[in-house]
Amino acid sequence: MQQELSIDSRALAARFPRDFTWGVATSAFQIEGATQQDGRGESIWDAFCRRTGVIADASNGDVACDHYHRWQDDLDLIAGLGVNAYRFSVAWPRVQPLGQGAWNAAGLAFYDRLLDGLLQRGVAPHLTLNHWDLPQALQEQGGWAARDTVHRFVDYGLELARRFGDRLSSLTTHNEPFVQAVLGNETGIFAPGIHHRRTAMQVAHHLLLSHGLALRALRAEGVDCRLGIVLNLAPVEAASDSEADRARARLEDGRLVRWYIDPLLRGSYPDDVWMDLGADVPEIHGDDMKIISTPMDFLGVNYYSRSVVNAGGAVDPKQLGAKVTDMGWEVYPEGLTKLLCRLHRDYSIPDLYVTENGAAFPDEWRDGGVHDVERRDYIARHIAAAGAALAAGVPLKGFMVWSLMDNFEWASGYAKRFGIVHVDYATQRRTPKASAIWYRDFLLGMRRREAA
Ligand code: FCB
Repeated sequence: MQQELSIDSRALAARFPRDFTWGVATSAFQIEGATQQDGRGESIWDAFCRRTGVIADASNGDVACDHYHRWQDDLDLIAGLGVNAYRFSVAWPRVQPLGQGAWNAAGLAFYDRLLDGLLQRGVAPHLTLNHWDLPQALQEQGGWAARDTVHRFVDYGLELARRFGDRLSSLTTHNEPFVQAVLGNETGIFAPGIHHRRTAMQVAHHLLLSHGLALRALRAEGVDCRLGIVLNLAPVEAASDSEADRARARLEDGRLVRWYIDPLLRGSYPDDVWMDLGADVPEIHGDDMKIISTPMDFLGVNYYSRSVVNAGGAVDPKQLGAKVTDMGWEVYPEGLTKLLCRLHRDYSIPDLYVTENGAAFPDEWRDGGVHDVERRDYIARHIAAAGAALAAGVPLKGFMVWSLMDNFEWASGYAKRFGIVHVDYATQRRTPKASAIWYRDFLLGMRRREAA
């Protein structure tokens, strides 16, 4: 017997407007595989995966979900869910192996087919230029810490926009600059695996700068799809009312949220974090801040959990007695409502999208299926939380589930499963889980109501 969901799906559906964007999301390195095929160059994640001890199961992206070969079936799977949008990324080294100079025709042709295939199935393409897989050749010249990479990125974005722009619903410059900068270059747990705070801050600055420059270049080129960026955001809450806990929570909010939102939407870095960085502040040139704050059409928010901190730093959610996912992240749907309402209250925000939301759980096969009630409930409760923000007046335009299918979860390898579709890596068989069936039925119900 499958546990019933405590949320009334019909009442939930009624809270969203007809033109709302409903999607599923993936990224190139996590699903494509075929890393050495058809002229693809190497990315920093290929190189990182070769290091010992950095990926939990010592795996890599060589095969992943073999999406490069199975894309047609995967597009059928997406269409079968009844979503009207698909968020995916282009692997820069697949289309421009060295990150500058020659373009790879076979790589470009792959995304060309993918876009046509989506449109034929009535699914709107939402393309991300940079979901972390920088060409390794550019890393060897300093990577995102080098100012020149900013210009290489603008060239790459322009080329893609010229070829694909008229088929896109939206184009995102970067996915999660915080993660690329801090996890990649300060804590070093992600590619390129550097441990240096000043480098991380320079990387963050260059990511933001290249976003603004790309927006200007794409607009000058007349690209007419919607342009934006995706940030990983979370409410950062103090563990107690003590002055010390509250001060730390404010600083961590600065590091995670305001360091990115303020330059993008206000044109300046937050003073408190700037002071705290001391000698590690990034080098900034003349018009950088003006460029970074070039108006964008939308802001994408990836939301998974909140962060609770005390004077000493992050508090383990298990200590709070909270329910956690397989990543150890607290299940906290209210945080999504709070976060979206705060953005709306404190900033003059463009349209908002929840570009990622979902959960890893250790799925079990039973009676020929995966009855992932925890994931289903997680997603339903977060959709309800998004609906609450909408009701409060937040200009929320869409919601995308992470992820379409189980995939390479970065440093966790294949051990953590985020998919609403199960992937058997031995056979590459895809099986929709209960969460996918719930999502499909939820969307179907909505279409029926609209048709009635
Ligand atoms: C986000 C990433 C995405 C995925 C989820 C679980 O930080 O953007 O690729 O790994 O986390």
